[in-house]
Amino acid sequence: MVKVIFSGIQPSGIPTIGNYLGAIRQFVELQEDNECYFCVVNQHAITVPQDPKELRENTRSLAALYVASGLDPNKATLFIQSEVPAHTELSWLIQTFTYMGELERMTQFKDKAEKQSAVSSALFTYPTLMAADILLYNADIVPVGEDQKQHIELTRDVAQRFNNRYGETFVIPDIQLPKVGARIMSLQDPTKKMSKSDENQRAFISMLDSPKQIEKKIKSAVTDSDMEIRYDKENKPGVSNLLAIYASCTNQTVADAEKHFQGKGYGDLKKEVAEAVISVIEPIQQRYEKLINSNELDDILDEGAKKANEVAEKTLHKVKKKMGLIR
Ligand code: TYM
Repeated sequence: MVKVIFSGIQPSGIPTIGNYLGAIRQFVELQEDNECYFCVVNQHAITVPQDPKELRENTRSLAALYVASGLDPNKATLFIQSEVPAHTELSWLIQTFTYMGELERMTQFKDKAEKQSAVSSALFTYPTLMAADILLYNADIVPVGEDQKQHIELTRDVAQRFNNRYGETFVIPDIQLPKVGARIMSLQDPTKKMSKSDENQRAFISMLDSPKQIEKKIKSAVTDSDMEIRYDKENKPGVSNLLAIYASCTNQTVADAEKHFQGKGYGDLKKEVAEAVISVIEPIQQRYEKLINSNELDDILDEGAKKANEVAEKTLHKVKKKMGLIR
């Protein structure tokens, strides 16, 4: 059966291979048999300070990377969040039945708030915007990496609460995690997730890093002091992360990857991981170069915004009517 799929990525930097392996790659598979909406969530990005010029560039860049990664505008609706005003409007409505305690429990809020000298109220209410994103399109499935699990659970809770209070309105979405690559870790501190906004450039591989940069970053990845290539997240987080990246890039299980490296050393591991990453990223970069300055990209985004607005407006109207906001 055709399902509705929604997901988004923040243009808070250039996406990393974590974003690719955890999210984008699932999007590409899902577009074949489903009704898909993939969004560049620029209004999520501004919950922490952004330079406007950089934000504009990163937004375009992420949209181009969606297409370069294989998302096809004839199969999926690709758009920019700020071009569909229903997202922020529904977010406000959702805030009226989301509790402070629920938002205070969000671990991503706690992590991000710790890093800011001043915490915006939008960073706190961020999950209600995310719920709005998902619920506007009646999404059945939300493909994401593991770090978004808590936000999806909150989305389900508030949607259910609305349905109980006002009658069946929202579809309750399910999360979908990739089998391998749901949580790619930092190359410099493999107990932390790889993040596009990490201050240490060597901690992540961006989808636009050159092959030389990729080799260098993987070469300097933190491992451990023994020599065994074995998947053991607890005791060998660095090596386990490299194995997961390798397995994910070469489409095999972690167990197969482990077998492949039996008897080999960390030097071999790093060399082959770099090769695997480059072979996934290089063709995407070639398509990206053709797209980034093209009118084709603008046409795709215009068309996407138009389609998204149509669907989103309908849901928003339904919600406002139920809440007594339509004259
Ligand atoms: P964001 O922009 O941090 O990440 C985008 C997607 O990439 C996944 N991801 C990872 N997967 C594996 N390993 C990693 N190290 C890694 N880092 C990130 C994320 O899980 C996500 O799927 N709040 C979301 C954006 C969002 C959204 C939505 C997602 C806004 N509205 C609605 C789904 C549906 C975020 O900050 O993702």
